[in-house]
This record gives sequence, C-alpha cells and structure tokens, in this order.
Amino acid sequence: MISILLSPHILLAGKSPTVSTAMREEEILILQGKVSIYWLGVEPFLYIADPEFLRKMSSGVLDKSWGKPAVFREDRLPMFGIGLVMVEGEHWIHNRHVITPAFSPANLKAMTSQMVECTTKMLDRWDAFCTSHKPEIDVEHDIIRTAGEIIAKVSFGMKHGTSYENGQIVFEKLRAMQMTLFKSNRNVGVPFSEFFSPKKSLEARRIGKEIDQLLLSMINLQKESRTKSPEEDLLGVLLAGNDEDSHPGGKKLTSRELVDECKTFFFGGHETTALSLAWTLQLLVVHPEWQTQLRKEIKQVIGDGEIDSTKLAALKKMGWVWNEVLRLYSPAPNRQAREDIQVDDMVIPKGINMWIDVVGMNHDKELWGDDVFEFKPERFKDDLYGGCKHKMGFLPFGFGGRMCVGRNLSAMDYKVVLTLILSRFSLSLSKLPSFPCYYALS
Ligand code: HEM
Repeated sequence: MISILLSPHILLAGKSPTVSTAMREEEILILQGKVSIYWLGVEPFLYIADPEFLRKMSSGVLDKSWGKPAVFREDRLPMFGIGLVMVEGEHWIHNRHVITPAFSPANLKAMTSQMVECTTKMLDRWDAFCTSHKPEIDVEHDIIRTAGEIIAKVSFGMKHGTSYENGQIVFEKLRAMQMTLFKSNRNVGVPFSEFFSPKKSLEARRIGKEIDQLLLSMINLQKESRTKSPEEDLLGVLLAGNDEDSHPGGKKLTSRELVDECKTFFFGGHETTALSLAWTLQLLVVHPEWQTQLRKEIKQVIGDGEIDSTKLAALKKMGWVWNEVLRLYSPAPNRQAREDIQVDDMVIPKGINMWIDVVGMNHDKELWGDDVFEFKPERFKDDLYGGCKHKMGFLPFGFGGRMCVGRNLSAMDYKVVLTLILSRFSLSLSKLPSFPCYYALS
C-alpha cells in the first residue's frame, strides 16, 4: 500500500462560506437564542436552531406550501434557474414527481461503473505522483475535481464520440461559472450588489448562456438520435420519460426545465459530496484507527471483487463515518413561508425567510451530550439519529417532502470514492504550508 501525505489545507476545506456562515450563526445563537431574527443585507431571516420549534412549525405545513427565499433564487439564478431546488407550489409537485424516479436504485446501480472509472483515473494520477517521488498531493483539489466529473457524468453524460461529447465542455464551463460567481458575489441581500463587480456578473451571465445552449443542443441531439441507453445518466432517464412513444400522456419536463435540472444536479450534488469526502479524509488522518477499521470492512465486504450497489450498502461502518462527517460539517436548508404558519402562540407571517441552522443543532450539547465536538462514528451504530435527543436534531438532507432527492446517489458516490482510496492508499498529514482554499457554494 502507498502512503499519501495529506496537505493541512484540507483543514480549510470548510472555511469556505460553510464555516464563516457557521461562525456568524454561532454568534446569533449565543447572543439571541435558538429562535430569533437576523438580517442578510436588507432581508430579514428567521433563524431556527431548536428542533422542537422546527417540528411544530413543519407539522402544519404541506410540502408544496414551502417556498424558497427570493433573495437566494435571484442570487443563484444562473446556477439553478427553475430547477427543483428553487421551484415552488404545484410546479414543485409536478417536477418532483417526474424527477424522483430517475434516482431509483435500479437507475443508480447502472452509474456505479462511471464512479469507479473517474475515481480510478484520479488514483492512477496519485500513483504516478508517488512513484515520481512527489508524495505530497493537494488532495482536496483532486477530490473536488473528481467529484465534479462524477456528478457531471451521472447528470448529463460526458462520453466522447456520442451526441454527448459536449458534456466535457459543459463541465468545464459549469466550474468556471461557479468560480466567477463566488469570486464576485459575496453580498447576498445587499441591493444592487451585482453592480459592485459588473464585469464578473456579466461574465457569469455570458457563461450561463453558453452552458444553456450547449445543454440544449445535447438534449435536441439526443431526442433526435436516441443513440444512448437511457439509464447511463439522469438526463437520459428524464428524456426517456419524456418520450411520447414509450410514455404516452406521461408527465413531462420542458427543454428549459431539463437544462435547469442538469445544472441543479451538478451544483446541488457537486460540492456537497466533495466536501463530505474532503472532511472525511481529514478526519481519517486525525483518527487513523478509523482508516484501519474501514479498510478491514472493505476487505471483508468487497475483497478483490467488483464494487456493486449491494456491496456498497453492506459497508455499515462507512455509513456511520459518513453520518458523523455530515453531523460535524453540514450544509443547511433554507425555506420561505408561503402562508402564515402558527407555532404555539406565535404566527410566522407569509413571506418570512428561514435559515434552519443544522450546524448549530448538530453542535448543541443539550442534544448530543458533552462529546458533541468529537469524531465518534460509533454513535450511529445502533441509532439512525446518532443518539441525538430529538429526531429533528439531525437533518443532513433536510426534512419533509423537500428532503434531498440525491441522497442515495451521493451515498453511493461517497462509498465508491472512499473504498477505492482506502484500498490503494494510506493517508497522513503533510507538513507543507497550506494551499489556498476555494470559495464556493455549500
Ligand atoms: C453530501 C451530499 C448532499 C447533501 C448533504 C445534500 C443536502 C441537501 C439539503 C440540506 C437539501 C435541502 C432540503 C430541504 O430543504 O429540506 C437538499 C436538496 C436537494 N438536493 Fe441535495 N445534498 C447532497 C447531495 C445531492 C446530490 C448528489 C444531488 C443530485 C444529484 C442533490 C440534489 C438536490 C436537489 C435537487 C434538492 C432539492 C429537492 C427539493 O427541493 O425537492 N443533492 N440537499
């Protein structure tokens, strides 16, 4: 087995907005309590870090009655458009019904080989690094890129020599747009903030249009040629469902919606999965006993055989580790009330934005006990909620009918990448100065 030294900049992986937001959230929590108001620019937000309040609030609201803060819809328009993350009401119900089956176990099963292929390519590069006596690798950078490649492949395909060969260009442009947007736009909620950096805003819009055109041409080509087996990627599955011959009168998505769903899968699934992997590697370096335990499990369950979805599901300890990483470093859902919501004697008026502080709840001693900040995957051994005292205290994928649609895909992706890394490499911390970290979405 080859040893890889892990650069300490991995420590900074979440020092993108996740941690800076979390630090602001901690201040709110200490100064104002678990349910309070804060402002994002000129936008008021109801801050919620109390699972019991969340339970009462959500029990009276239909899934279709949840909205999304307009301030985020506008800020992230080039990324998500009218994709599932942003739509509301009847539009959301329709699209969720059409999209959910695309993430069925049978469809996901067919995507395992693409995950293995992308990860193996990355590990071969690591191998070459090691044999060329340069054992220190910017692992975070590589993981983020590979997770991006995987999510692009399984979302809209990136094969050469097919109608999908534009997929590679779309992938590069999506990454460029992400970087452009997050270098320019850090003033969410501040009126006219797009004019603070007009060049970057125009640049993001230009790249956005190019991406839309490329995706649209891929969709049209695929509709005409039908050369690809549909289950290869999510777009293929959705297009097959749109096909009037095989699904007469079935529920459909327009070409505009298909384009926006491709972007939504990419932006919703890329960094979330990549950061959970980067944090996992960091934690496994600090807790090498868990590297050993996971390697043992991989040997028992997968051995020298091929990775498939049944074996991945049997990697129980890896599942605990994933949960523990998501508990410690969570993304957070946000919502908007589309009607008045009654919670005890309080009314949350229609139009109010909400920030559900999952990070605050996951780090709350009252819910988890004194070891709340420790990395202890075994807390998930016999308990889906990791011993949390409230069932709504652990919500890595959100809650209710708007819960993350990609969670099973992400679990597979995480397990494939981690299995392959741990089967070929052992990890330790580099003593080199840190590399720059990347500002991004989650
Ligand atoms: C570690 C990985 C991931 C985490 C932690 C995560 C987390 C979340 C969270 C917190 C929400 C908001 C749920 C709510 O409002 O209650 C969400 C929604 C969503 N996620 Fe994920 N996600 C992950 C991976 C993915 C992947 C791989 C995809 C797609 C390929 C995806 C697609 C979506 C979509 C489309 C929604 C919107 C669902 C709706 O509003 O109906 N996510 N995710």
